[in-house]
Amino acid sequence: MCGIVGAIAQRPVAAILLEGLRRLEYRGYDSAGIAVLDEGGQLNRLRVLGKVARLAEALAAEPLPGTLGIAHTRWATHGEPAVHNAHPHISAERCALVHNGVIENHEALRARLSAEGHIFTSDTDTEVVVHAIYAELARGLPLVDAVRAAVQGLRGAYALGVIDAQDPNHLVAARYGSPLVIGLGFGESFIASDVCALLPVTNRFIFLEDGDLAELSREAIWIWDRSGQLVERPMKTSLLSVETIERGPYRHYMQKEIFEQPHAIAETLEGRLSGERVPLEVFGHRAAALFPQIRSVRIIACGTSYHAGLVARYWLESLAGLPCQVEVASEYRYRRAVVPEGTLFVAISQSGETADTLAALHQAKNAGYAATLAICNVPESSLVRESDLVFLTHAGPEIGVASTKAFTTQLVALLLLTIALGRCRGLSAEEERRLVGLLRQLPGEVEEVLRLDATVAALAERFADKHHTLFLGRGEHYPIALEGALKLKEISYIHAEAYPAGELKHGPLALIDEEMPVIAVAPNNGLLEKLKSNLEEVRARGGQLIVFADQRVHLAQNNGVTVVGVPATNELVDPLLFTIPLQLLAYHVAVLKGTDVDQPRNLAKSVTVE
Ligand code: AGP
Repeated sequence: MCGIVGAIAQRPVAAILLEGLRRLEYRGYDSAGIAVLDEGGQLNRLRVLGKVARLAEALAAEPLPGTLGIAHTRWATHGEPAVHNAHPHISAERCALVHNGVIENHEALRARLSAEGHIFTSDTDTEVVVHAIYAELARGLPLVDAVRAAVQGLRGAYALGVIDAQDPNHLVAARYGSPLVIGLGFGESFIASDVCALLPVTNRFIFLEDGDLAELSREAIWIWDRSGQLVERPMKTSLLSVETIERGPYRHYMQKEIFEQPHAIAETLEGRLSGERVPLEVFGHRAAALFPQIRSVRIIACGTSYHAGLVARYWLESLAGLPCQVEVASEYRYRRAVVPEGTLFVAISQSGETADTLAALHQAKNAGYAATLAICNVPESSLVRESDLVFLTHAGPEIGVASTKAFTTQLVALLLLTIALGRCRGLSAEEERRLVGLLRQLPGEVEEVLRLDATVAALAERFADKHHTLFLGRGEHYPIALEGALKLKEISYIHAEAYPAGELKHGPLALIDEEMPVIAVAPNNGLLEKLKSNLEEVRARGGQLIVFADQRVHLAQNNGVTVVGVPATNELVDPLLFTIPLQLLAYHVAVLKGTDVDQPRNLAKSVTVE
């Protein structure tokens, strides 16, 4: 969380930094700031509470000239969202710094630096870093050495961009535990939290590794690894274009991303199906040797990615015959888990930078797993670089904080994994052919379900004045209910809970009244009759039911029950298809309520702090 951008160029950098911040705003949007060094060697800074648009207004009123600068968009961890806590932080009018991450030993450092006479003006953990660097500069070290010395005293995670008013020719960056990329221009160099921020100025990138320290000039860059060795990191050319991250004709990124799902799913399947089979190699070249040895699977993830894992448990156990455990990363990382022999560790993450998921992966590496597999949407992410096996979902950049196309493409990846592992466990060629055939039809089916948009938009009006909702599902649709509830709560701020419908009488039934809409997903599967009885229990108590039901299913539509027919086709891909109306519902309710759909309060897209 928090977005960093920095530039050293032969042209004014303020506009480049501002555009970079706009593209990083999904990472945090409590406050924003920029510092630029002018020709006279003066550091000029602007900071605002709120979004980047307010910083743009401030910059328009008070332009910051100069060819070296850093900027930041914040997601508060230590210290409330406030101008004095916004980055860049400055020490002694000389050293300016932007930071993403959390400095765990900030209290001890603050006490020491205060005792040495440094004046603190914020409540952040970050400010200790800028004073620590300044202390080294004051001892006469050049900027890069000052940063090297200061970071040695830090515990926690950081991505840093630093400038020194007495050195107009260098920008210094450091990375440990938080992502940072260098952009290579012609006669100019940049840093940013991700490539999207820099696409308007370059498509050539170097991804820093943990422990790296980098010095950038206009013409060259130098990188030292954690042992202090000067190293060469590979330069990669990004295939992303500026257009892929534009909102286009859509009102919000979330809406765009919901409607991109047929294409995103097709892209994720592209090259992953060979005739009627799923080649094991689509999970990495070592998969062919490893998968036949797999005896169980443990899936770790957070939020929506965790819900994808919960769905996969049903698939892996029923189709591949493999025991599967699924756990949220923040819990898993702090317990001693037993790892049965032959267990595959699967980490799912859209961003590949989620702090808890990464920590769980690090822990898994020495825990006796047969292998680690990352299912991820960002090729250059830490999760991808650090896992034994990788499956990239090709969903394209997801900007809206609410995850949509990332989720359905994760489900596609997990279906492919189920089929691949299933074949090693005796799934017949005939069954594999059938499953692959169903997957091939999926993009078209999602397209069909998206036609429910207007119907769902009309239904959304019933929610605008509600404070609580309940989502119900059974079997692999229970995680879909969880996902529907998460979508609704995070962008509309309506309290939403999900239950397996069979649990109703064990407590939640007590909540049912006319003020609490109950949303159920009703696929045409073996649990349908059981679900119908559960829905009757809700009706009998005056509950208002909205049921997204397979259009072949007959459900009486009477007073208090609204049924929306979903063009679903088969049990395998139903969870993906039933997700779509729930995404649309959350979206339209949020639009009606006038909340900030793409950047809901208190949240950020990439949760890079614990
Ligand atoms: C979903 O809508 C979320 N905003 C959130 O739960 C997200 O899925 C979670 O933070 C995990 O992110 P990741 O997939 O990037 O690891």
